Amino acid sequence: MTTPAIDINYLNTFARKMVQEKKSAVGFPCNQNVKLADFYHWYAVSGLADVAMNNVGDPRKPSLYALNTHEFENQVIDFFSPLYGFSPGEAWGFVTNSGTDGNNHGIYFGVNVLSSLSEIKPILYVSEEAHYSIKRLGDLQGLDMRQIPTNVRGEIEVQAFEQALDPSRPALIVIAVGTTFKGGIDNQDAIDEILTRKKPVAVYRHVDAALFGGFLPFSENAHIVNHDVRKYDSIAVSGHKFFGFDEPLGIFMTTNKVLAKQNPFQVSYLNGSVPTISCSRSALAPLKFWWQIHNTGVDGYRRQADLILKNAVYLKHRLDEINYPAWKNDISNTVYFLRPGDWVMKKWSLAPYEDDRLGGKLAHDIVMRHEGMHTIDRFIDDLLLDQRGGSQTD
Ligand SMILES: Cc1ncc(COP(=O)(O)O)c(C=O)c1O
Repeated sequence: MTTPAIDINYLNTFARKMVQEKKSAVGFPCNQNVKLADFYHWYAVSGLADVAMNNVGDPRKPSLYALNTHEFENQVIDFFSPLYGFSPGEAWGFVTNSGTDGNNHGIYFGVNVLSSLSEIKPILYVSEEAHYSIKRLGDLQGLDMRQIPTNVRGEIEVQAFEQALDPSRPALIVIAVGTTFKGGIDNQDAIDEILTRKKPVAVYRHVDAALFGGFLPFSENAHIVNHDVRKYDSIAVSGHKFFGFDEPLGIFMTTNKVLAKQNPFQVSYLNGSVPTISCSRSALAPLKFWWQIHNTGVDGYRRQADLILKNAVYLKHRLDEINYPAWKNDISNTVYFLRPGDWVMKKWSLAPYEDDRLGGKLAHDIVMRHEGMHTIDRFIDDLLLDQRGGSQTD
């Protein structure tokens, strides 16, 4: 059989379409301001594009597979851990496949910690507006789950949480810091107050900060994801959201104390215990993260956080100006509004949602770095055209 030739025209047409589409992709939390062309150039000329590296194993332990980027992975975690309020030497973490991968580890690690403290099966508490991955993962791990109603801003209803909390069983709480649709942040003070008062037999707190966990450490609200302040046990953040990577990745951080409670499952061919759920892990992702950290630095991330938060305020302001029903939570880059016509939804890659408390059909715009004021103005023009009954095809 002959090898099919690579049709470059076919590929280039596809690439042009993607490059065009990214300009108006505002409905999903993917930062399209990806800046990795220099990295990929270096990667190819360095010879690494022809090497099969793999970060299998615990990045903090010597690996028997020499072709890995563990040293870069550790530097990524060492860069971020103080920004998330971990003391020196306290944190253990790794570069994940995604936010979901980080949540999976948070829930799994949580179950192990709780079972070291009590023989009673834990209950997973999560808000109804938390990301579906939490519910999927709770299901996967066979956990009893209580889904707690949310208020209109997408934050957990604290009274409903109190009612649902069963103090006779260990509590595994997944705290949403930035819900997917509305950017709701669960009230950690209120949750803590209830836990202190009702004293469940054991508690583990995992923070799902897939999107907001990227920008919060670089904002005036860094305390929300600060481990020292909030005393959470683990946190998951996505890399392709705020940080702007070209493919799914993320970071998971916890403490060495939590790590010590994990089932050791010794793996002799990997030099001991491997705490990660997946065996093979990307070696490229930590290298890209390392590259970005050195290109951007804390000040650069601060500027980026500031920009998206300001532009989200600008979008809300423009929507108010044209009297378009829209909402934005205080600490958020997510603006949600009444759902426009299908052509606007399609053109701007908007995601649909329903909430009867806000008039039914909704959509949202997650302001990432590629959505500047000029793009926002063009979006508003389309909403105005839509309101007049027009469409781009008219
Ligand atoms: C709040 C929240 N958690 C988790 C996820 C899943 O993250 P990932 O797509 O990185 O797996 C998302 C994705 O949008 C999210 O919004």
